[in-house]
Amino acid sequence: MSERGATLKLDGVTLDFGGLRAVDNVTTTISGGELVGLIGPNGAGKTSLYNALTGIYPPTAGKVVFDGVDITGMPPHKIAAHGLVRSFQLVSVFPDMTCLENVLAGFHSKTRSGTFDALFRTETFKRERKDCLEAARLILKKVGLERKASVKAGNLSYGERKRLDIGRAVAAAPKMLLLDEPAAGLNPVERRELADLILTLHRDGYTMVVIEHDMKLIMGLVERVLVLDRGRLIADGTPQQVQNDEKVITAYIGRRPGHAGN
Ligand SMILES: Nc1ncnc2c1ncn2[C@@H]1O[C@H](COP(=O)(O)OP(=O)(O)OP(=O)(O)O)[C@@H](O)[C@H]1O
Ligand SMILES: [Mg+2]
Repeated sequence: MSERGATLKLDGVTLDFGGLRAVDNVTTTISGGELVGLIGPNGAGKTSLYNALTGIYPPTAGKVVFDGVDITGMPPHKIAAHGLVRSFQLVSVFPDMTCLENVLAGFHSKTRSGTFDALFRTETFKRERKDCLEAARLILKKVGLERKASVKAGNLSYGERKRLDIGRAVAAAPKMLLLDEPAAGLNPVERRELADLILTLHRDGYTMVVIEHDMKLIMGLVERVLVLDRGRLIADGTPQQVQNDEKVITAYIGRRPGHAGN
């Protein structure tokens, strides 16, 4: 876990869906070591921005440079291999695999064996699995699931699954983590645990961008907040600055920042 701390540069990143401009000319830089919040009303383009950055949907216009490499329009697995790793808004753990196996599967972008090998337990997978076991156990400990190593992910609570999801992302040895609403749907205790996990990863040196709807949670967690509204970056500053920004207040009026999910 020594390869952390790359810079992500967005230059006029734009993503259109037919006539709809989901991401509109976003320019900003996220530096190694930062913990950044990304907020905005439902449909503001937060997930779309992650999709454009991670190759799910190549940007319609603009440029993305990560760790000195132009990753604009690269396929998702290549971008992940460069160290820009994301979680999805909906939990994407394998329910029939144990927690340990889920984390092991997360190593696939860094090892020769892939998800196929993980699922079908080929010889390559078995060999690399041994090498990865210790690291996987450390990651489970980090996300507070060391005692659930042999429990199937489908039997975890929702909060535990969310933390396992982050463990899988960490297993991919990211230089930067993009988390999409990791705290959505969690109860207050689970939210606190998740916030603590994010802070722990930040202290460990992980660079992270966190999408979150709960203003209180995000404001107490991060040092810098980016605000999207209708695809545009309308504010970028400290929690204090964006909370008092007229454009931000206007963007949220009449649009409760409650979660609709997608
Ligand atoms: N695959 C897609 N095809 C067409 N339109 C899409 C697609 N994905 C997103 N959109 C549209 O792009 C806009 C931005 O959506 P996006 O999901 O990025 O918002 P969001 O900020 O993540 O919202 P939420 O807070 O609800 O998760 C919305 O109008 C949405 O309907
Ligand atoms: Mg979203």
